[in-house]
Amino acid sequence: MAARSPFPSFPRGWFVIGFSPDIAPGEVKTVHYFSQDIVLFRTASGVLSAVDRTCPHLGAHLGVGKVDGECLRCPYHAWGYDATGRCVDIPYAQKIPPKAAVRAWPLREVNGCILVWYCPRGEAPTWEPPVLEEDGWTANQVVRWELDGFVQDVAENTVDTAHLWPVHHVGPAEVLSLEQQGHSMHVLLRMTASGAPVEMPDETHEVELDVTVHGLGMVVSATQVLNADLRTRQRIYPVPITETRMAIFGVNNTRKMADPAYTKEIDDIFYRAFLADFPRDFPIWSTKTFVDRPVLAAGDGPIGKYRKWCRQFYDWPAEQAAAAPQAQPAPEGLIGRLTRVARRIRDLAQKPVGAPAGGSAHDPDEQELVAPKKRPGEGAVHVQAGRFPSVDSYFDTLEARFDRAAAGDLEAVFQWVLTGDKGRQHFVEIRGGQAQSKPGSHPEPTLTIEMSADDYLMMINGELNGARAFSTGRGKLRGPVRLAMKMQRLFPLERAV
Ligand code: FES
Ligand SMILES: [Fe+2]
Repeated sequence: MAARSPFPSFPRGWFVIGFSPDIAPGEVKTVHYFSQDIVLFRTASGVLSAVDRTCPHLGAHLGVGKVDGECLRCPYHAWGYDATGRCVDIPYAQKIPPKAAVRAWPLREVNGCILVWYCPRGEAPTWEPPVLEEDGWTANQVVRWELDGFVQDVAENTVDTAHLWPVHHVGPAEVLSLEQQGHSMHVLLRMTASGAPVEMPDETHEVELDVTVHGLGMVVSATQVLNADLRTRQRIYPVPITETRMAIFGVNNTRKMADPAYTKEIDDIFYRAFLADFPRDFPIWSTKTFVDRPVLAAGDGPIGKYRKWCRQFYDWPAEQAAAAPQAQPAPEGLIGRLTRVARRIRDLAQKPVGAPAGGSAHDPDEQELVAPKKRPGEGAVHVQAGRFPSVDSYFDTLEARFDRAAAGDLEAVFQWVLTGDKGRQHFVEIRGGQAQSKPGSHPEPTLTIEMSADDYLMMINGELNGARAFSTGRGKLRGPVRLAMKMQRLFPLERAV
């Protein structure tokens, strides 16, 4: 292995080497993982196969060959190999030599991904990749990254809660549970996440991450935004390219909600957030040194437990296996403990009732005290301010409440379609730093809010969670969700008084 790699082999397990739609029937493709070329081909009937590159006859690269019906023809003398790698046809010979076969990789196509089994000893799979639920979820939105680094570092992120604030700007985070069973690990995390990555800069969300790791090639992170009833799923599949370089395949899915348009909007927002937020680790992963015996502090996540679990995937020489590297939490001395307690007391004393605790944004020791914490159930859309007696009072004050600075150069038309006994239509047009509010309907609204007038009144009075109302179909949004989220800043409710 290269000098920088601390591992004795590539890890054993299932690894994604492509997405199913990447290779159509009749196609041949060469990919490069585990420091070798792997030839993928899909037969005319659709069977996918991954074989080693070298034809056992005279060594031609099979990736230059062609699919012929159900077999792959070598480009040199046209020997034909079936999907299992066995030679089934030599155009000029009657008898096929018994050794005429190329090694086929154990392969599965699951949830739109092509997985191969890697074992440093060439042994058969000892477990099967899980099949994730697809019913009720949006189609895969995919991405592939490539960077220097080691696959083990990717899943280590799931237990490394202390990096969440400095790298991902996520507030209080804690590991609620960690279970390891054979090749699988299950981590439950709870955190307060800024809405900025999901285009809601004014919001914070209570997020629960349910992460399942299968070997080192598969991380499935189910995200539940508790205060908005949203469920999305980010699937992260790292795979070694060489000893020091890796690819990461990523997939985003969103649990379908009552309104398909709203689902699509949310799915796109979370996909864009995944594209923007996940790579924040890349400059670190691609330059860090793997510290075999890290010095850990109280407050670090269960890194040592994770690393111990990882050892099963490598082929350790016997003497190294006995001397397993262990990450030990640094024993916290009396001074450290006293400082911590003193800090807590200071923060509690300084904290006004009902206000978020303060703390240095860059002190990982205090990271759980940094971001404002809301209780689950507190909404993303509503703000509790002065009460509105009717929706009319809300509409009547729109122009007066309009915040010109917040609008900037925004040009947009907000349309309300409120139904029920007290139903009415109303719109406000924002242009040139002015807001014009009128009853009725506009021919080309940028954003339309459909809801019963009673529900809308409850929402503006903070009695109904707007995000939840829209995700459950109780209300409908037509247009960009991020514009809806901006409404609080455009028409601050507290200006109503
Ligand atoms: S080298 Fe492949 S058939 Fe001869
Ligand atoms: Fe990270």
